[in-house]
Amino acid sequence: MTKNSIVVSGIRPTGNLHLGNYMGAVKNFLKMQNEYNCFFFIADYHSLTTHPNPMDLHQNVRQVLAEYLACGLDPEKCTLYIQSDLPQIPELYLLLNMHAYKGELERVSSFKEKARTQPDNINAGLLTYPVLMAADIIIHRAGLVPVGKDQEQHLEMARTFGNRFNRMYSIDLFPEPQAFNYGGELVKIPGLQGGGKMSKSDGDNNVINLVDEPEKLRKKIMKAVSDSGPTEPNSAPSQSAQNLFDLMATVSSPETLNFFKEAHANCNIRYGDLKKQLAEDMIQFLTPIREKIQDIYADEAYLGKVAKLGAEKARESAEATLTEARKAIGFKRFF
Ligand code: ADP
Ligand code: TRP
Repeated sequence: MTKNSIVVSGIRPTGNLHLGNYMGAVKNFLKMQNEYNCFFFIADYHSLTTHPNPMDLHQNVRQVLAEYLACGLDPEKCTLYIQSDLPQIPELYLLLNMHAYKGELERVSSFKEKARTQPDNINAGLLTYPVLMAADIIIHRAGLVPVGKDQEQHLEMARTFGNRFNRMYSIDLFPEPQAFNYGGELVKIPGLQGGGKMSKSDGDNNVINLVDEPEKLRKKIMKAVSDSGPTEPNSAPSQSAQNLFDLMATVSSPETLNFFKEAHANCNIRYGDLKKQLAEDMIQFLTPIREKIQDIYADEAYLGKVAKLGAEKARESAEATLTEARKAIGFKRFF
């Protein structure tokens, strides 16, 4: 991997950022901005599939922008922008859509999942979500995409659409983007309610938001699902116990984690104590971030400056790629 690899990643503004977003995505962004040419954006077009009301949309975009900055994204080091400030993205999306087939789009797991959970709103935007995401990535000719494990299939589609365009028009325009994580393995942070990943769509009690106040964190964590305790020494933790260990691994010291793992192995674990410790460690980790989010959110002039600078830098890169794509397709201006 060369130092000048181009990086793209985005997060949909569908609510507050949570610990899963931080550990799966933002933490990598922070390190990458020092090493690569990074484009990080707020995927507001993507959030339209669920028809947010206009007031919420703007507030959520502002919130995520403040959250990105509070976490440490630096607009001087990376290009930080709002997706809808780049008209080049929907244009490339339109071009890619001509070579994206209904059958392959219908087989995407996230589409099948959404079609099942929102049967009254299976819109074309939902079906072509992977095409828009491919456009986001390849518009900057990115090679690396820091995302969580749930996005792997979308990345594969981005490679497919980029390669197909190259082949179709005999051009070597789009490189193959790869999912990226510093640890090698893609991260999956579990939710508090015992199930799979921490996700906004599973309700507030399942997620640890970066803006959650200490009291709220204590309440949510104390209510986290556990089990009735191991009965055999050295038995494998249940899914819910493992989730608690996984959460602890993100914010507590290795000694603390080991202490509770050993207690589990010896069958004398007290989940109440584990949760109390987890809550305090989480509060310590999140408090400085929460305070910064509040300050930055209130500073409208600063947010405006950041968004404008980001849009200008991102448009320049996007326009260069789009010019090549238009040329390859055969568009030629008469004037
Ligand atoms: P959500 O699932 O809560 O709607 P998004 O789909 O907007 O979150 O995810 C934004 C980014 O955060 C993506 O890169 C995604 O892979 C990452 N991410 C989301 N949830 C988790 C999680 N529980 N563990 C690891 N990464 C996650
Ligand atoms: N689909 C991603 C998610 O749900 C968000 C996203 C949109 C994205 N476009 C992207 C992520 C481009 C990385 C690169 O989390």
